[in-house]
Parts: sequence; C-alpha cells; structure tokens
Amino acid sequence: MNIVLIGFMASGKTSVGRRAAKRLGFRFMDTDHFIESEQGCAISEIFETRGEPAFRAMESALLQRLKRLDNYVLATGGGIVTTPGSMERLKDVGVVVFLKADLEDILRRLENDKRRPKVQGGDLRTKVTALLGERLPLYEEADIVIETIGKTPNQVAGEVLRLATGFRRPAHTVTLMGEPSPREAQP
Ligand code: S3P
Repeated sequence: MNIVLIGFMASGKTSVGRRAAKRLGFRFMDTDHFIESEQGCAISEIFETRGEPAFRAMESALLQRLKRLDNYVLATGGGIVTTPGSMERLKDVGVVVFLKADLEDILRRLENDKRRPKVQGGDLRTKVTALLGERLPLYEEADIVIETIGKTPNQVAGEVLRLATGFRRPAHTVTLMGEPSPREAQP
C-alpha cells in the first residue's frame, strides 16, 4: 500500500509526508526532488529551458514507474493534477490524500518564494487565487480530503495515517444507459 499526497504548493505535503512515512515505517519520496535529481537541475530550470509541458510529461512518466512501489508515502508537485488523466494514474499508485490548506496560509508561506516558477512575478494573491480556482475541483477528486488549517504537520500526519490505512476504494460500478446495474438486477 502507498499513500499519495496531493495539494497546492506550500500546503505541507513534504513535511506531513515525511512524518507519516516515519510513523508507518514506510519510505518517503518527493516527486519534485526525484525529478530534479534525475534531471540534474532545478524545476525552475526545467520550466525555463524545456517548458512546463516537458515537466508535466516527466511527472506523468514518473507516475507510471511509481505503480511498482509498495509501502511508500509520496509527496507530489502541486500541479500534477492538471495533466489530463493524472488522478487515475495517482490512484493507481496508492490512496490519494488531498491536503487542503487555507488560502491565507498558502500566501504567507509563498510570500518570499523564489523557487516555484508558477508564482514568480506579478501579484501573488491574484496568481494563487486563480490557480486554486482551477485546481480545487481536481484536488477534490482525491480519495480522502484533509483540511490542514490550524493543525501542526504532526497532527495532519496522524490524520493521514488514521484515514489512509483503513481506506478501501469503493468499487466503481459502470452502468450502461438504460440497463440496470448488477446490484439492481439481483432479485
Ligand atoms: C508546481 C508545484 C511545485 C513544482 C513546480 C510546479 C505547481 O511543487 O512541482 O514548481 O504547478 O503547482 P510543490 O507543490 O511541491 O511546491
């Protein structure tokens, strides 16, 4: 079993993920760091020289490889959900947990950020509000949503453990138009 943390930039995925992994005796991996070490350069450099679509393709390719892992807690980049089909790929890797941080907390943590290309230049609040508006419905597709406002990383990690370890994804019933689902068809 793996646990996959998703959420906006600066929502605590790495600090919560490390703590959750330690408490579970799982290994921890951060997809941003993994891509940076494999490419031998910073994400900002990848965005600059090869463009965001190239970075998104690297994230998708990495998700394919991560399906083979077991007993990992993974922290993912905040924009991973914007690639079409990525939620399905994330769920193939493990139980997907959305760390839902408060806008003001995010703004405070990103105030002096120089690393993240998506929030450089222009008005931070405008940028973050627009990105959150686009991404929130995508994050909400996670298996589990945890609000992080007013909680320490340790408390959030505790909730991740409690909710994710007992989680069973409901079986997906596909019903053809006009045909009863198997359950309805039973006497
Ligand atoms: C991004 C978030 C970053 C990183 C890249 C793009 C985004 O990860 O993947 O800068 O589009 O939200 P964090 O969420 O770890 O900051």
